[in-house]
Amino acid sequence: MTLILGIETSCDETSAAVIERSDPEQRPALRSLVILSQDVHAVFGGVVPEIAARAHLTSIVPVVDRALAESGATFGDLGAVAVTHSPGLIGALLAGVSYGKSLAYSLGVPAVAVHHMEGHLFAASLEDPDAEPPFMALLVSGGHTMLIDCPEWGSYELLGSTRDDAAGEAFDKVAKLLGLPYPGGRHVEELAATGDPGRFRFKRPMLDGTWKENQPGYHDVSFSGLKTAVLNAVRNSNHIERDRADIARGFQDALIETLVEKTARAADERGRSRIVLGGGVACNRTLVAAARKRAAVIGATVHSASPRLSTDNAAMIARAGLFHYERGEQADWSLNAYATRPIPGLRSA
Ligand code: KG4
Ligand code: ZN
Repeated sequence: MTLILGIETSCDETSAAVIERSDPEQRPALRSLVILSQDVHAVFGGVVPEIAARAHLTSIVPVVDRALAESGATFGDLGAVAVTHSPGLIGALLAGVSYGKSLAYSLGVPAVAVHHMEGHLFAASLEDPDAEPPFMALLVSGGHTMLIDCPEWGSYELLGSTRDDAAGEAFDKVAKLLGLPYPGGRHVEELAATGDPGRFRFKRPMLDGTWKENQPGYHDVSFSGLKTAVLNAVRNSNHIERDRADIARGFQDALIETLVEKTARAADERGRSRIVLGGGVACNRTLVAAARKRAAVIGATVHSASPRLSTDNAAMIARAGLFHYERGEQADWSLNAYATRPIPGLRSA
């Protein structure tokens, strides 16, 4: 039996988790997951990097202790320590990397470096046995929007990404324009549910017929124009209290249709019958429902994790870490944190 401790501190969640694999034929099981969200950033309307790093330092020890206690394991039972080392806020990442590396060294077990976005790719597989390759993945978080074709774990082809704002970033900025709290995705979704879909029809970015298959950028997305359209709608409104929900609805409909259409086209092009959604924006039920509906047209199924495993968490880091550990990959003690790095095994289309 292998037990892996996962540690995630790339942004504003301090998280630790323990997963177990009894034998290589069996699916890994989640034994515990603790997520401490740093609510303090809501006051500032966004994550303050220095505050995030300091908060990780004070919470990492109790969070790991708690995850171990809940798993029923002790430090001595751990086979490896997996830690997010990129991408993210450098000070925040360093807190987790320094702690994880020291812990692994003191226990005499391997430290495994995990790329945060590869973690998001693995999240759905913790709950859904069918969220396994081959699949087309749409990763939508606060910092990234990527369409990745995955023929097998560890082999990834980047088909498209955002040219400007990430999907979650667009949600957060629109939330701010509409006077909603940070992080705004959840609040925009709630507000949009009460909105009239017919009043604000924003242009679907990069979806019109001018973008031809095989043309570079065909699978890319762009949300800055949509964000500006929302800004103009807010500015031009002479009754914003009445229009807010309708604007939120118009924005969300445009963003979701764009993401879903791009994902379905990519899945169809590659003949993938499974679509995996990952990242915080995959908590959006409207997105998941729209993806299911569109995927059915091409005979594909959609797989996404529950909200707890879709947003930043250490369970997905432990799972991706287990994959690398089982391949014999371990970090040396010079392991460092990096603000940006490509996903290991990722190549461009
Ligand atoms: O993956 P994640 O937890 O952190 C990053 O790696 O960035 O994603 C956070 C993002 C935020 O932008 C947040 O507003 C968005 O996910 N989000 C949502 C929803 N829940 C979280 N966006 C749309 N609808 C939601 N229900
Ligand atoms: Zn994330």
